[in-house]
Amino acid sequence: MRVRRRKGAEEHLANNPHYVILNPEDAKGHWQEIFGNDKPIHIEVGSGKGAFITGMALQNPGINYIGIDIQVSVLSHALDKVLASEAENIRLLQVDGSSLTNYFADEEIDLLYLNFSDPWPKKKHAKRRLTYKTFLDTYKQILPEHGEIHLKTDNRGLFEYSLASFSQYGMVLKQVWLDLHASDYEGNVMTEYEQKFSDKGQVIYRVEAMF
Ligand SMILES: C[S@@+](CC[C@H](N)C(=O)[O-])C[C@H]1O[C@@H](n2cnc3c(N)ncnc32)[C@H](O)[C@@H]1O
Repeated sequence: MRVRRRKGAEEHLANNPHYVILNPEDAKGHWQEIFGNDKPIHIEVGSGKGAFITGMALQNPGINYIGIDIQVSVLSHALDKVLASEAENIRLLQVDGSSLTNYFADEEIDLLYLNFSDPWPKKKHAKRRLTYKTFLDTYKQILPEHGEIHLKTDNRGLFEYSLASFSQYGMVLKQVWLDLHASDYEGNVMTEYEQKFSDKGQVIYRVEAMF
């Protein structure tokens, strides 16, 4: 997903260093100090405009959240939501999900979310999917032993690919939802894309996978 360049986005991020981590390499191994407590840390890779990560932070004050997105303009929209929420347990990071080991020490993260990741349907682009095995290598390193990835998508192709990729990696599929919104799953926080696709009547898939 490409979002139109937002005027002033870079300045907006730079002007809010409390919420946006501007020197992410320096944060590696210091996330508890950044949050000022030792609560568990959950991250969303590809957090988009931030509805999920902000909603989760408000719903779960006992957990610290980090929204990660590669695009400056997208993250600047997420920053608006973070500022409006006044949640203290949330930070934002503008980096590539493929290089998370530069910004997080081994086992520094407790849980990782992937929501409505770009599907990259062409086979030649499989390496760009956020559930490709090189991404799983990265996630495994920063999660604890038996750490978990929770994924939601409307895209059946990406869902099937991700289930296979997790399995081939030796991960355990703890639970799978083929129609999340018709299930008895409680406490679901919608993402922007989830809202858009469910409004169109599309089913939402979800999986919890464990290393
Ligand atoms: C389709 S959007 C979904 C946004 C949001 N999770 C939602 O559900 O509304 C995918 C997001 O992932 C981000 N993204 C794609 N590849 C990424 C990568 N390698 N590292 C970090 N973010 C990435 C994009 O910039 C985009 O904001």
